Amino acid sequence: MQNDTKKPEPQAPTKKVFIKTWGCQMNVYDSTRMSDALEADGYAPTTTMEDADLVLLNTCHIREKAAEKVYSNLGRIRQLKETRAGTDRPLTIGVTGCVAQAEGQEIIRRERAVDLVVGPQTYHRLPEIVTRSKSGPQVDTEYAVEDKFEHLALPKKRQVQARGVTAFLTVQEGCDKFCTFCVVPYTRGAEVSRPLAQILDEARALIDAGVREITLLGQNVNAWHGVDGTGRELGLGHLLHHLAALPGIARLRYVTSHPRDMADDLIEAHRDLDCLMPYLHLPVQAGSDKILKSMNRGHTSADYLSIINRVREARPDIAISGDMIVGFPGETDDDFEATMEIVRQTNYAACYSFKYSMRPGTPGAEMTDQVDEAVKTERLARLQALLSDQQKAFNAACIGKTIDVLIEKPGRTEDQWIGRSPWLQSVVMPRTLGAIGDIVSVDVIAAQANSLMGAGAQLAPPASHNSTSQNMETATL
Ligand code: 5AD
Ligand code: SF4
Repeated sequence: MQNDTKKPEPQAPTKKVFIKTWGCQMNVYDSTRMSDALEADGYAPTTTMEDADLVLLNTCHIREKAAEKVYSNLGRIRQLKETRAGTDRPLTIGVTGCVAQAEGQEIIRRERAVDLVVGPQTYHRLPEIVTRSKSGPQVDTEYAVEDKFEHLALPKKRQVQARGVTAFLTVQEGCDKFCTFCVVPYTRGAEVSRPLAQILDEARALIDAGVREITLLGQNVNAWHGVDGTGRELGLGHLLHHLAALPGIARLRYVTSHPRDMADDLIEAHRDLDCLMPYLHLPVQAGSDKILKSMNRGHTSADYLSIINRVREARPDIAISGDMIVGFPGETDDDFEATMEIVRQTNYAACYSFKYSMRPGTPGAEMTDQVDEAVKTERLARLQALLSDQQKAFNAACIGKTIDVLIEKPGRTEDQWIGRSPWLQSVVMPRTLGAIGDIVSVDVIAAQANSLMGAGAQLAPPASHNSTSQNMETATL
């Protein structure tokens, strides 16, 4: 059980925390939980770094560029800290997330302005670590024996409401798959599933605060496993059934999945649950069986395509998205062609693509046949051109259809809303159609690379991120 009731009432916020988040949705979720935990300790969230007493960088270690960005940001924040030294508002700087876990003490050695380094497994201890950091730098990158979720209070209604009608809910963390390119098994540790009752409690708190759509998160979310009250073994498909039965829930999603864990109960959930949105993020990473083997993926390209076929049989309108890596060690022109071919055969609605980035400590970094950077760049451009065509075609196919849209937030102008289609596209529409939190029927009249426009929405939709970009700060994981 969560220990919400044991917590003292939050103090009136006197200090402010600014959290900058990189990386996957799990980091986005962690940032909200850190913010909630600190609020109980008197820190109100702020969206301006200059306004903060505590700055936290919640970091990603997945590719080299992501980690380097942390250090360049720290350099700039140090200057802010220096201007505050000796005033009555000294600045405390913390690094959390996967770079914190991977580099620990090294961060403080490289950047002395940092006061605390806290890994993803121990952020429930943040309030006390912040306090201790007043007397010297603190590093906490333990894999805590206690379950951090047991120690985090359920989010308060007010906190959830401030974030809108969609919410993330981490149900599983860590990874045991050990793909040879990936740091996750080292930074986030072994696969751990949160218990069913704990997840349902958190989901109820979200729904009670007005959340309509919950996205279940996990580095390997479809490896989630648990037991129900009778001791029956459950998989993610069963969990989705339990959540779908909660009164008030309108939409469910989950991300990110591994082909090896695409169990029957999950595929059947796509057939049986209307509130499970027709969207599956299922990374394959490469199309060549030789490369898949050397990546230690544990499946072939044929296995992947057969899963995609089964999922499409269960839910014909499902949108498939994925992740691709180009230039893994040993990738020849023919191997890359196999990647292009699996993309053609899968026909993605959206897909993230990356140049292989060598990560110290992973088996990939030890491989001798590294691919030339210029070759990676050229392959990525070709792959992204194909993915972009597929994404545009998927969006264009929505024109002329009437679709259900969850109204999420104000658009660019006072007469517009932005909503979400079942297939995760942004939809621009007129406010006359409903209110935030409503699910309304929208006639799609136009499509762009990343968004749709509903009838009556006159102005161009806002530019949104390019899902095939290498430099995005929020990726799927
Ligand atoms: N280099 C490039 N891309 C990577 N990913 C994970 N590790 C690496 C790496 N070393 C990609 C994978 C994964 C996504 C979240 O990031 O495609 O699915
Ligand atoms: Fe695990 Fe995904 Fe990384 Fe593979 S890519 S090791 S499945 S987190």
